[in-house]
Amino acid sequence: MKGIILAGGTGTRLLPLTAVTSKQLLPVYDRPMIFYPLNTLIKAGIKDILVIVAPDHSGHFLNLLGSMFEKLGVHISFMVQKQPRGLAEAFILAEDFIDGDETTLVLGDNIFEDDFTEAIRTFAGGGRIFAKEVTDPERFGVVEFGSDHQVLSIEEKPTHPKSSFAIPGIYIFDALVVEAAKGLTASARGELEITDLHKYYLGKQALDVRMIEGAWFDTGTPDSLLAASVFAKEHNFSERFHAMVNEAIVAFNGEYKKMVSLKK
Ligand code: TTP
Repeated sequence: MKGIILAGGTGTRLLPLTAVTSKQLLPVYDRPMIFYPLNTLIKAGIKDILVIVAPDHSGHFLNLLGSMFEKLGVHISFMVQKQPRGLAEAFILAEDFIDGDETTLVLGDNIFEDDFTEAIRTFAGGGRIFAKEVTDPERFGVVEFGSDHQVLSIEEKPTHPKSSFAIPGIYIFDALVVEAAKGLTASARGELEITDLHKYYLGKQALDVRMIEGAWFDTGTPDSLLAASVFAKEHNFSERFHAMVNEAIVAFNGEYKKMVSLKK
């Protein structure tokens, strides 16, 4: 299983914060945001991770993550998405990285309390996505269920949602996703939509939807960014990170301090 963190985009809802660096490097309490999706993948046992970034602040990601995990057996590679053409473009850009394997994609601004180890371990092809009941489903992809939990419809940011079940930003797909993404056409807002990939698998009766447990934040707005920070502080989120992630951060901080003192 490969992992992808989609950390490009423009972050316009967080301007002017995102004029100086990427949204996914802004602080969520005591950690840059990207550590949360990174932790989600590492905790689930994924050791080969591609981080897709926008051109403007790409060097910031490299400075932070470029060699942080290498000694710990987690390989992180980077790719630039020149323009934000939509979430599904990740699978086209990452074709060589995916190289016929299964992939878990996490959005770089999504923070999960849940553990996806079991969902990834038991994945047996097709597509596996997740659902969470929310009060503002119109902000997200929305899944509608029938009486025995079968999926009836999936819609991207509907004006009149058919249910209150949002689709959080973590998706597991088999290798067919690359060709499926290549076959998509851009939506009215000019993006290759991830929900069209969900519909592709739904059409093949190969889409599985699971409920997620615990808190989930999409940190794309000032309010949700603040809520995620408060949650992270109150629930000692960073102490609950995978030991390897915390170990990598401690080592990075030590080396950084050494470098700063050498400069003095
Ligand atoms: P969004 O929050 O939908 O978009 P954005 O980050 O550009 O923010 P805004 O709407 O405020 O301008 O994106 C969700 C996540 O996916 C986020 O981590 C950015 C990432 N993303 C990409 O990497 N490439 C893309 O083409 C898009 C649309 C998003």
